[in-house]
Amino acid sequence: ITDPKTQRFEVPHEHVGPFSGPAASDLKYKVDIQQNPFGIKVTRVSNGKVLFDTAIGPLLYAEQFLQLSIKLPSANIYGVGEHVHKRYQHDVNWKTCRDTAPSGNMDNLYGVQTFFLCLEDNTGASLGVFLMNSNAMEFALQPAPAVTYRTIGGILDFYIFLGDTPEQVVQEYVKFIGLPALPSYWSLGFQLSRYDYGSLDEVKAVVERNRAIGLPYDVQYTDIDYMDGRKDFTYDKVKFKDLPSFRAYMHNYGQKYIIILDAPIGTEALSDGSPYEAYERGQSKNVWVNESDGVTPLVGEVWPGRTVFPDFTNPACTDWWVEECQIFYNQVPYDGIWIDMNEVASFVPGSSNGCKQNDLNFPPFTPHVVDRLLFSKTLCMDAVQKWGRQYDVHSLFGYSMTLSTQRAIERLFPGKRSFLLSRSTFAGSGKYAGHWLGDNAATWDHLKWAIPGMLEFGLFGIPYVGADICGFFEDVTEELCRRWMQVGAFYPFSRNHNTEKCAVSGGPPPELGTRFRRSPRSC
Ligand code: GLC
Repeated sequence: ITDPKTQRFEVPHEHVGPFSGPAASDLKYKVDIQQNPFGIKVTRVSNGKVLFDTAIGPLLYAEQFLQLSIKLPSANIYGVGEHVHKRYQHDVNWKTCRDTAPSGNMDNLYGVQTFFLCLEDNTGASLGVFLMNSNAMEFALQPAPAVTYRTIGGILDFYIFLGDTPEQVVQEYVKFIGLPALPSYWSLGFQLSRYDYGSLDEVKAVVERNRAIGLPYDVQYTDIDYMDGRKDFTYDKVKFKDLPSFRAYMHNYGQKYIIILDAPIGTEALSDGSPYEAYERGQSKNVWVNESDGVTPLVGEVWPGRTVFPDFTNPACTDWWVEECQIFYNQVPYDGIWIDMNEVASFVPGSSNGCKQNDLNFPPFTPHVVDRLLFSKTLCMDAVQKWGRQYDVHSLFGYSMTLSTQRAIERLFPGKRSFLLSRSTFAGSGKYAGHWLGDNAATWDHLKWAIPGMLEFGLFGIPYVGADICGFFEDVTEELCRRWMQVGAFYPFSRNHNTEKCAVSGGPPPELGTRFRRSPRSC
């Protein structure tokens, strides 16, 4: 459903575009449109059951508020994310989903997935519903049973999938948005990581210790502490001075090495005063997200301090990014890439210049997002990217960074399966990347909640998924960690990952202010 008079934003998705080719024949469904009140009804032909009926509520279609409710054949509803769902099956008793670190209170998390599955009855017959829309939205569940999609932009681009089984519905959906990547064999093995090992010597001591006890483990990571001042494409020449030979050291034992790359790019010189070349090159190519004037790079603050944000929807930015991955690879070879902070995250609201008072930054209706502020921990909504305004494309940041990083992977490992892991996802991200459920905590609840979390990403076409084994925040007990290692052996993406010792959940410790350097030694 679109506006015939005015052009509205539509998601420039890699796969899903205008249809071509012959229409389907021998339909399993029938579509009826009703007027006064307006409604769309989809019926399963074989048993006459109404599967999708929007007459339960009015269609609302304003410039910045679009709402459609759908009555469903059953309350067996699964999916829609990214949130912590404590159970796989939804509670339809007037619950709202929204698009932070997973706390279990239905906050909107790193990615946006608008697909759900509904089991119609006990024969297995099922349907799936997908809304191709990347604007900020709410999703409400009602006991009718019914659901409501409430979005503040774009168009209502719905896709409905019918199947004889739930599996068939997911297969149809996944074929539609892009089949998942076939993971490299080694990436199915156990992986070890932590934020702030402190030095490469310490990383090697961990590797040696685990080799010595015969722990079957295939992959070692280094997090942002390998970098110089937490800047992408650099490494700490003192504490990580032998990083250029680390991959060879891992390969000698049949193991692999993965690096992290953050989306935000620091703007200051390196610790020895030399220029930060990756930034300088990007700057000369104008590849950053701009302020509302469309020409001034928007500045925020993330791990390196002051940062700009690559506009991965700009082909020139992808070229720059691929080139930087290659230049760094020539210095420090690696086997795969973990991309992070790509929601995109910023520790100042909007921009270091603040955000203007307008309908994009402060829309008439703000969905129930964290802080009830659209630019909280991210960019101003009137910031400009090639694909459009942040207001429309914010939720596509991680997806576009995945597409660009996949280009780098293809260049560095031609003809091979490699490894790409992304924190932020959108429909179709699974074609290239896996996902982990983010900054969980070392509690029994988080161990439990990860199970529905992973099942949901299976529905979303990202089956290569896991949660930080033993919990990211907080100290873990031996009993919990043992149990987590046991269940984690069954995660498709099986990685034990941990934060730095003095971490404070959810970003920089407030006492360090917005311009900070976070290090365990200072806390
Ligand atoms: C983010 C990531 C976490 C990582 C940390 C430092 O919080 O989610 O996995 O360790 O940043 O890079």
